[in-house]
Amino acid sequence: MTSSAYATLDADVAHTVEVLKIALADYNGSHKSKHWDVFPENYVERISDPSVWEDFRYNNLTAGFDVGWSDPSKSGKPAVIDDHSEPRAQPILRRYRSLLSITGPEFISEFVEAEIGNPERLYLDGVALNTTDLRLLHDAWDISQWFVDRNAPKRSVEIGGGFGGLTGKIRSLYPDCQCIILDLPEVNAVQSIYYRMRFPNIRLLDYAAFKERGPECLLNTDWDIALLPGWCAVDVADQSIDLIVNTRSFMEMTNDTVAFYFRELQRFSRVSGFFYCVNRYWKATAGEPVLLKRFPFDARWVFSLSAMAWDQDWLHRLGAVRLDFDSAISPKEQIRNLPPSSLRDTWDNLKFFFRGIIRLTLGGHRNIEPGLNRYLFLTRRYLERLAVSVIKRLIGRS
Ligand SMILES: C[S@@+](CC[C@H](N)C(=O)[O-])C[C@H]1O[C@@H](n2cnc3c(N)ncnc32)[C@H](O)[C@@H]1O
Repeated sequence: MTSSAYATLDADVAHTVEVLKIALADYNGSHKSKHWDVFPENYVERISDPSVWEDFRYNNLTAGFDVGWSDPSKSGKPAVIDDHSEPRAQPILRRYRSLLSITGPEFISEFVEAEIGNPERLYLDGVALNTTDLRLLHDAWDISQWFVDRNAPKRSVEIGGGFGGLTGKIRSLYPDCQCIILDLPEVNAVQSIYYRMRFPNIRLLDYAAFKERGPECLLNTDWDIALLPGWCAVDVADQSIDLIVNTRSFMEMTNDTVAFYFRELQRFSRVSGFFYCVNRYWKATAGEPVLLKRFPFDARWVFSLSAMAWDQDWLHRLGAVRLDFDSAISPKEQIRNLPPSSLRDTWDNLKFFFRGIIRLTLGGHRNIEPGLNRYLFLTRRYLERLAVSVIKRLIGRS
């Protein structure tokens, strides 16, 4: 168990590096896609220097899991945008206005966090605004809509949490929720420093402590956030998780890795658990095409939310609720028509079209889709009744 035994940034960094070395020694690399094979050879050395952490969201340390791969420090422009008429301020202001109209100002001012690590940002009425944070605020808003008037989640798992912004908001929304992040070991290291800066009294459970104590410790209540490498997904207890989150990350993993996480999350989600999933319709940077509409949802989900992502119309948002029975319409069927179209969809749609023609002409169920079937049914019934009355009459005469 990590504790406040090391209270300074230097000590935090030294401890984080030790944990990372333990995780890297256990890592067989199988879950790292081509997209994420990006950490330089001197990564451990680089993050061992406490001076990089002051600006870690400005000096490219979060490249790929913040806004793109750019290195803002190389632009020569300061992280804080003082002049709101500057071109780089415009998208942030536009996003802010859009989010404001959805959530209102209180949600933003309560859950905003765009200062740690010195990200590119501007200040409006004293509130720090930054593109990634605005997106994470919208994610947090979506999640909060599901848990309104319901019991707050007690345990969450985020798969691919970036520097930790969204799970940070989940902690702020639901302070009693124990949050697990499953990620690459290199990124767990960043999350560890982020949380020490964001919540100084947080009780972090790191991989070294997890290894020492065993998987049962995930059911104890003496930690707040657990930062674990992805392979620990198999150690999360069956039906123990209320909220599962995956934003902008399955799309960068191979289909095998996505299948691994689905197997595990479908096991550890509790019945009526909520799975919030925001990913591209299509992406191929992992080395093969990864399609959201082909994610291996089993039959026990129903979507309470299925819509284009806020601010990124090339992504889709799904809110899936776990059932303890098979959904009447399979989840695969429910998302079958999402983009991109493929030959396989064309064939499926063709079958659907011919089934439609049959329902329109012959009909389906006589009370729902009458078609010709209903007239055949009514004619048969009329003839049956006629035959019965004729027979009765004949019998009466004889
Ligand atoms: C583009 S970032 C998204 C970060 C954050 N969820 C967001 O929406 O801003 C992708 C995340 O997936 C993580 N990731 C990549 N491969 C992974 C794997 N095999 N298992 C777990 N996480 C992985 C990355 O380390 C990173 O945190």
